[in-house]
Amino acid sequence: MSVPTLIDSHCHLDMEQFDADRAAVLERAQAQGVRLIVNPGIDLRHCRQAIALADTHPQVYAAVGIHPNSSADFAEQTLTQLRQLADHPKVVAIGEIGLDTYWGKVPLRRQAHAFRAQLHMAADLGLPVIIHNRDATADVADILDEWAASARTRNAPLAKRAFWGVLHAFAGDVALAQRAYGWNFVLGLGGPLTFKNARSLHRTAPQLRLDRLMIETDAPYLAPHPLRGKRNEPAYVALVAERLAELLAVPVEEIAARTTAAACSIFGFDCR
Ligand code: NI
Repeated sequence: MSVPTLIDSHCHLDMEQFDADRAAVLERAQAQGVRLIVNPGIDLRHCRQAIALADTHPQVYAAVGIHPNSSADFAEQTLTQLRQLADHPKVVAIGEIGLDTYWGKVPLRRQAHAFRAQLHMAADLGLPVIIHNRDATADVADILDEWAASARTRNAPLAKRAFWGVLHAFAGDVALAQRAYGWNFVLGLGGPLTFKNARSLHRTAPQLRLDRLMIETDAPYLAPHPLRGKRNEPAYVALVAERLAELLAVPVEEIAARTTAAACSIFGFDCR
């Protein structure tokens, strides 16, 4: 594989918003230098769709997991099915998983149960985790503290890897970033970084470790400025890279190289 220019580390290409023009979307990504795309699932159906896309497109990889907003029916059987899906050679992570109190779709206790169960499965499978956190930072961080300590103590297969996960759509402060480094995590930055009113994120970004950053779109959601409000797509990850370069006052080529290196390391891509 030649050196990838950019990696979209979080994109929901399997969603119906792309049904009409998925091939064109992938072509535009290619043209923008987006060499690889990681497609997390949100429920079992979407996980299967993500894997189907990974099967048909060499540049697409999948993650499997139950999103907190889809965790109402989470059961032991769900975990068994996820484990089977994770066996696929193009599944590179467990996600997206986490907590979401913003939408309030599922009681927090149920969300936390599904979150913990999937975290432990990931540690046992030796796969990194993709974390969704919406208005639940304190609980997410407590659960990750406990999980990382236990993975370390019992020397779980994941403990052999350099990176254990990513805080996707990172919007926290430097203190949270430091806690994340302690879990061997990287931080995923996307469209919100480019929003004109994202002042606290603009202040925080230059204080983050550049060797711990990945870029993402979360497409079809969160399109970056100046496309905010439109459908997002992987090609627009280039706008995130450009804004990050501006905020950190480093060349965009360096942002591309460093974020690609982090993504290759965490997901196990051969990026030489
Ligand atoms: Ni997502």
